[in-house]
Amino acid sequence: MEHELPAEALPHPPSVVEDGATDDWSKEDDDPMAEDHPQPSAAVTDLVDPHLEDTKADIQSGLQSLQLETGVKDKKAITDENAEGLDDKEENKKRHFNVVFIGHVDAGKSTAGGQILLLSGQVDDRTIQKYEKEAKDKSRESWYMAYIMDTNEEERVKGITVEVGRAHFETENTRFTILDAPGHKSYVPNMISGASQADVGVLVISARKGEFETGYEKGGQTREHVQLAKTLGVSKLVVVVNKMDDPTVKWSKERFHEIESKMVPFLKSSGYNVKKDVQFLPISALFGANMKTRMEKSICDWWSGPCLFEVLDSIEVPPRDPNGPVRMPIIDKYKDMGTVVMGKIESGSISEGDNLLVMPNKASVKVLSIICDENKVRRAGPGENVRVKLAGVEEEDILAGFVLSSVDSLGHRTQCFFSDTSDDDKLFILAAKPIGAVSEFNAQLQILELLDNAIFTAGYKAVLHIHSIVEECEVVELLEEIDTKKKKDADPRKKKAKRKPLFVKNGAVVVCRIQVTNLICIESFSDFAQLGRFTLRTEGKTVAVGKVVALPPAGSPAFA
Ligand code: GTP
Ligand code: MG
Repeated sequence: MEHELPAEALPHPPSVVEDGATDDWSKEDDDPMAEDHPQPSAAVTDLVDPHLEDTKADIQSGLQSLQLETGVKDKKAITDENAEGLDDKEENKKRHFNVVFIGHVDAGKSTAGGQILLLSGQVDDRTIQKYEKEAKDKSRESWYMAYIMDTNEEERVKGITVEVGRAHFETENTRFTILDAPGHKSYVPNMISGASQADVGVLVISARKGEFETGYEKGGQTREHVQLAKTLGVSKLVVVVNKMDDPTVKWSKERFHEIESKMVPFLKSSGYNVKKDVQFLPISALFGANMKTRMEKSICDWWSGPCLFEVLDSIEVPPRDPNGPVRMPIIDKYKDMGTVVMGKIESGSISEGDNLLVMPNKASVKVLSIICDENKVRRAGPGENVRVKLAGVEEEDILAGFVLSSVDSLGHRTQCFFSDTSDDDKLFILAAKPIGAVSEFNAQLQILELLDNAIFTAGYKAVLHIHSIVEECEVVELLEEIDTKKKKDADPRKKKAKRKPLFVKNGAVVVCRIQVTNLICIESFSDFAQLGRFTLRTEGKTVAVGKVVALPPAGSPAFA
């Protein structure tokens, strides 16, 4: 298990990704306007508590110190490859998902992650006993299970996750990478980085009296995480109602249903189709109940549904195209007898010996080796979290947020240019293009909650989180406010010419132009959802979510 680099600690900001899931970042299916014009909701506008203090300075210093440690852990992981064995895991034909554990602080995410590793036989009794002793010495007895995921000293002393913990486990049909996100509001950027790599989210909610309420109220991270997860492309959610063993809960059916009935409208307003994409189940992460095996009747007699492993094993996410153009946003990099980059392959496949480009600096590189789940592989497909060793580029010349991309490969796809343009052909044509680098783009934004007295107008500055990019940005022009109440079948002849708005308010959906200082590599949402959806944050709060709707013409960083 290793830890991921915290987004805000990156040297040149860039940081968030996702998956080309076919669903939209915006709204639920039964809302006909949803696809392009997300409806603001009361729940959404409740997202942020304006009274909460911004602790950015603290976080940044905390994250920077962790960054050093992350580098060490990463190096160890890759040099351990001999010990782990150089097995070629290409034979492992199981499907692979990234699952992010999200939810309010102390809900039990790390405990659930640790319990999963214990139940899947990856932690021995001696280690657990050691953790029990260590937790006791730190007066945090019940935290021993979380220590499996929370591996650094600061996390153990404070009893909170800071960095995204990463681990692997398998069910019958699926290999999972667990990404254990921090719940504390100070570390939302790290949560964004974790969720952006995930296909599936496990939303952990504490059923303990008062804890569900705190997580769910204004400013609680249950709300913010759900909203962000949807925006970042987490298409399926398993909502685990945890701590059901707690003396204030005692496996109460009423408590479970109370939480479910309060969560459902909120999940809907956040864009999830609750019937298709969400599943609720009661668990006790601390005791491992209803996790690997079904609930014992002696513990809880009213739950006859599936257990967590079963639910995870049966989840379907939209298939990805292994033959698409290569797009791998770089989350981290380091030196190890060459330059190693880490990230999730969002599109296409990477094979040993491939010639690729690191963008935006257009460095031509060759793939020397690929590590997937600590195993050396010859080829890795879309959705895999990998480390790729590259020749042809110095580590210093790569920054987090850069993208490993296919090279211009017109040659072997030329015949497609002459045939009818089917969807397949479009993909081939895309495959011929490396990702572009831009300093501006047009976006459709949904304003969630502006800070006190702020108005959203040209000149608005925020931090842009898009795939692994974290970058200061400025809204330079508002182009159009979208009327979310407009009837779909309104007579187009009566359509008035649209005037550019001067400002918009909370809840508005607006098309605007956004500029950044450094060149960034992004895609339009319609081509690559995962590289085209983003969040805007100001002073530690999520103020808007959006998608890229237009990019400058190919080869040019800005619109004319
Ligand atoms: P952050 O990473 O800081 O957001 O917290 P977390 O969601 O990872 O919570 P963590 O796993 O660290 O657990 C917080 C506390 O809740 C610890 O004291 C756990 O022992 C306790 N806890 C977690 N799961 C359960 C459970 O199923 N039952 C009971 N009774 N306590 C639990
Ligand atoms: Mg945790």
